[in-house]
Amino acid sequence: MPRVTFAGQDKEAEVAVGASIRQAAKAAGVCLYSGVFKLDNCHGLGLCGECRVRVIEGEEHLTEPGLRERHAGRPRGRRSVVKRGNEEGERLGCQALVLGDVVVQPRLRDEG
Ligand code: FES
Repeated sequence: MPRVTFAGQDKEAEVAVGASIRQAAKAAGVCLYSGVFKLDNCHGLGLCGECRVRVIEGEEHLTEPGLRERHAGRPRGRRSVVKRGNEEGERLGCQALVLGDVVVQPRLRDEG
């Protein structure tokens, strides 16, 4: 089973092939959300961008980003409350599925 390691938190989980990073985070006891977004997120629908993680190792062991993931978290005009764009090396924890061992680091909003 693939191992997902959460850098900087000394936590990891073994998950079935095809599990999401979000599911691995739950199994490891890692919260991918910060502040009010612990409650106010899309709960894995790939819409809010709050579960974003930086991939440290094993990007090739994740599924390719889908249409929803490529567009989540992008500014949607002046009314957007989303501050973070799609940065290189980052994935949505709820959309990236694990195919092999990976090391990721949660990108909490209050960390910038
Ligand atoms: S939980 Fe909202 S995009 Fe992943």
